[in-house]
Amino acid sequence: SGEELSSWIASAKASLGSRVAVMGHFYQRDEVVQYADFVGDSFQLARAARELPDAEAIVFCGVHFMAETADILTGPSQAVILPNLAAGCSMADMADIDSVEECWAELEARFGTSPDESGRVPVTPVTYMNSSAALKAFCGEHGGIVCTSSNASTVLEWAFERGQRVLFFPDQHLGRNTAKAMGVPLSTMPLWNPAKAGGGLSGEALDASRVILWNGFCSVHKRFTVSQISAARAAHPGVRVIVHPECPMEVVDAADSAGSTDYIVKAIAAAPAGSVFAIGTEINLVQRLAADYPQHEIFCLDSVVCPCSTMYRIHPAYLAWVLEELVAGRVVNQISVPSRVAAGARVALERMLAARP
Ligand code: 13P
Ligand code: SF4
Repeated sequence: SGEELSSWIASAKASLGSRVAVMGHFYQRDEVVQYADFVGDSFQLARAARELPDAEAIVFCGVHFMAETADILTGPSQAVILPNLAAGCSMADMADIDSVEECWAELEARFGTSPDESGRVPVTPVTYMNSSAALKAFCGEHGGIVCTSSNASTVLEWAFERGQRVLFFPDQHLGRNTAKAMGVPLSTMPLWNPAKAGGGLSGEALDASRVILWNGFCSVHKRFTVSQISAARAAHPGVRVIVHPECPMEVVDAADSAGSTDYIVKAIAAAPAGSVFAIGTEINLVQRLAADYPQHEIFCLDSVVCPCSTMYRIHPAYLAWVLEELVAGRVVNQISVPSRVAAGARVALERMLAARP
């Protein structure tokens, strides 16, 4: 039962003390978040994991790429545990290393590898945090960098200083929305389709490109629509519409603002009492915000509940199981990135952590 699970988790945590840290992403269900020692977005959790030298085990209640990132950023004696190994991310799966390497080979064949007169390289790879460790390593090894939704414009600025154009994967929407807000023309952001020869792009489109976008998306955020925003505005005059930048461009353009999960949390916390918010992001976060800020009216733009199905795979029973195994001296469901991949990925992640203003 729920009560039994609660007392198992609480007593396991009490006996493990500071030897274990439980991380919870904002999109986790409340039944899991209540046990988290750290709650945050993917950037905050990556940074927090790096600053826990005393924890022998980090139990990551989130998805696979987040646990990989924590493993890369923590010490070799620290075990990172993903309570359910089936908690992946469909967006991360949309860019695999073989397809990215094929794309890269074509870009190198077209643009070469030598810098121009001002020292700028032809292409800089940028991967969203929501990607496999292999892709982060690819970026580390090819002069590239990682970004999250909370630092994407800082990272793109870094990449534009370094080179003539960016290859951005896997999320086309975060790439397009961020570059557009920085003034990059849409006509210079072709979409690379890995299922087609040459990405389905003409040589002219590639020559004119500033940001080559990968054809990936988040199945949760792509569901939000402009008509949901119009309906919210009609029903609630004065509503503030805030959406995540993984939403399609038309939705971001129709919203009042767009930002990472942490941005959304801070915007709500700073608003005067009695504000009305329509939010375009994962439902567990929206419902928690509505409960935490009863002085506002907060609702999800999509009235059909849309949880992230893979985040939801972390059930408290899995958390209880991995903690009890730790109490018994056993590590289960460990995520270990091979050391060669980890070394390359760490380079790209450290560039990101250093690029943040
Ligand atoms: P952030 O935590 O960076 O906002 O990312 C949202 C997301 O989709 C996580 O999977
Ligand atoms: Fe992946 Fe989207 Fe779920 Fe985040 S919300 S884990 S990007 S599918």
